[in-house]
Amino acid sequence: MASVRVEEIEEGIHLLRVDDPYTGFFEALWEIPEGITYNAYLIRTQEGAVLVDGWKEAFASRLVEELESLVEPGELRYIVLNHLEPDHTGSLPAVARWAPGARILATGHAARMLRESMQWLGDRVRVVRDGEALELGGERLVFIHTPWLHWPETMVTWLPGRRVLMSCDVFGGYGIPLGVFDDECTRPGEALRSLKKYVVTVIGHYRQWIARGLSKLREAGVEPRVIAPGHGLLWRSNVAAVVEAYRRLAAGEPEEGKVLVLYASMYGSMEMLARSLACSLARRGLRPVLYGYTDTRRPSLSELLTDAAEAEALVVLAPTYEAGVFPLLRWALEEICWKTGGEGRKAVVVAGYGWGGATGRELEKTLRGCGYRVEAVLEHRGAHPASMTPGELRRLAEEAASALQRGQRG
Ligand code: FEO
Repeated sequence: MASVRVEEIEEGIHLLRVDDPYTGFFEALWEIPEGITYNAYLIRTQEGAVLVDGWKEAFASRLVEELESLVEPGELRYIVLNHLEPDHTGSLPAVARWAPGARILATGHAARMLRESMQWLGDRVRVVRDGEALELGGERLVFIHTPWLHWPETMVTWLPGRRVLMSCDVFGGYGIPLGVFDDECTRPGEALRSLKKYVVTVIGHYRQWIARGLSKLREAGVEPRVIAPGHGLLWRSNVAAVVEAYRRLAAGEPEEGKVLVLYASMYGSMEMLARSLACSLARRGLRPVLYGYTDTRRPSLSELLTDAAEAEALVVLAPTYEAGVFPLLRWALEEICWKTGGEGRKAVVVAGYGWGGATGRELEKTLRGCGYRVEAVLEHRGAHPASMTPGELRRLAEEAASALQRGQRG
């Protein structure tokens, strides 16, 4: 049974969090063995209550039970929908039926989507304009539209009197933390990694909108004391670090010296080469991170993408498969291009020559197409890596590492 945390995080504001350890593939794509939480917030005032966001449908009846322990249905005046993805709105039908007097506040785009998907809500849906404020019982809630963070209809809810930002997907992270706030988490590095993994996999494709969204919030005077997202930890001690992580990911600013080594190895030979290359890179003071598709391992694409976003360079080692690129590598590279892009980063390709060199050409085209600066395409003809002597193997690895380092200096 999923565990639930209901906690008063500020006077009059309750976090309602459900921990979901069952979803192994978020959006049916992203591997999350660490699980995920869905966070909703109940703001109680003397003139009634406001619920901000909700939970996934599987937990809808539990959310209603928790609300019942805090307020009467008639007290719930508004349900704010920052974002319509069903991980936050699956519970909406149950909550809206439980509190039939509650008005639903959303952006115009969201309201149009609701009219199509939940016609029965009728005139209960009220559009809030960008920057519009709701005053209720001494609380002021300001709605700031943040398109494409994560969908086009998305907004955040800002409580300027408290400097609390209820940001839904924005600044959310994977995982089921033990604590509620970031300073209760014993491993802040892990929490930041979870946040980066969420933003790269879920919002990464819209990274230009992240920069616009951050600027917009800054210009609107949003300087949060507490960030209360729709997933994972609430941030109060590391707010600046979280905003900076977002800024760097949006700007495509990598970590100096980090190199993603991506390979496929059907029979072990490319893996030998990848490991030799990693040693060559490490000897040069670089920090290689290896991801390999083999006959015994298949790396997590969500972790791979997170490291791709942080890496300043990429080395791809690709065997030839059906006269072209190994299919899983092709998919991984397509997702890297889609979610992180390669602008300003260096790449080196080591490809099997196969039946005529098509693998190297295809990889070079793909990488250039998404902004990588391809420093070298090394093809090994004749000698199969498995039949290479340790010396030959080392020489090829050194050649790839040298090409990359030349590019980094260039
Ligand atoms: Fe957490 Fe875009 O949903």
